Amino acid sequence: MEEENYRTKTFTLDISWPEAYPGQFLMAWLPGLDEKPLSLLDSDPVRITVAAVGRFSKAMHRLSPGDRIWVRGPLGHGFVLEPGSPIMAAGGYGVSPIAFLARRARETGRKVWVVVGARGRRELLFLERFAGLGVNLIVTTEDGSIGEKGLVTDAVSPLLARLDVPRVYACGPNGMLEALRELCVESGVPCQLSWEAYMRCGFGVCGSCARGEDGWLACKDGPVERIEPVGRNRLLR
Ligand SMILES: Cc1cc2nc3c(=O)[nH]c(=O)nc-3n(C[C@H](O)[C@H](O)[C@H](O)COP(=O)(O)OP(=O)(O)OC[C@H]3O[C@@H](n4cnc5c(N)ncnc54)[C@H](O)[C@@H]3O)c2cc1C
Ligand code: FES
Repeated sequence: MEEENYRTKTFTLDISWPEAYPGQFLMAWLPGLDEKPLSLLDSDPVRITVAAVGRFSKAMHRLSPGDRIWVRGPLGHGFVLEPGSPIMAAGGYGVSPIAFLARRARETGRKVWVVVGARGRRELLFLERFAGLGVNLIVTTEDGSIGEKGLVTDAVSPLLARLDVPRVYACGPNGMLEALRELCVESGVPCQLSWEAYMRCGFGVCGSCARGEDGWLACKDGPVERIEPVGRNRLLR
């Protein structure tokens, strides 16, 4: 177990899912308490990062090495790395799947831009991990206590204009994702966004994670949604 910040720990499990990929998640069950989705930070061995915010996550933090948890996975559709310049944006526990994705991208020799955002210095996560991956790291905080003062979108926006064939990948609070979606659609840049949702079954049966009117299920169709902007094509003749 590793302490990441004042309320966040990373856990290493005694299982390996080498076929799992960034953006996929597992369902972790603590008997008698609850079962919750958690993103994979790594697949071999499986690692997860948990912020202690409520009953389930605080109980996770009370576990010790050797204690048992029950997990199902890997579940869902994660990120697909596409050709182009990857800009990866993360807020909250979103750093976990984004760190996994950034590592995979660096393993293939790509240049990677990572924007990590938080309210303030205390909430920031994984800065050393990202620096160790050799990515171009930009930090934003709303209170300006470290990095650039502002929102994740403030840092992503100039990158969209500056980089060749930008591609955006993001995980974080839904408000951050909605702002990024708007920015990407306006700029004509494809994006992949990993949405938060309330999940029970984790594989498309209960309907509790449905988003929007078309019945899109975050657990089965997502959690990563691919958005391809339209209307920015150039006429050839
Ligand atoms: C696909 C998916 C992947 C997820 N991956 C992770 C992960 O890797 N790590 C992780 O910690 N959580 C992750 N979550 C959230 C996780 O499933 C739980 O919701 C979270 O652990 C809180 O559960 P709880 O019972 O402890 O608290 P709850 O009783 O559910 O929540 C307590 C309060 O905290 C708020 N809250 C919930 N989550 C957060 C948060 N992350 N930061 C700040 N406030 C929060 C709630 O809105 C509520 O007000 C993921 C959720 C989804 C849908
Ligand atoms: S959690 Fe049951 S359908 Fe998605």
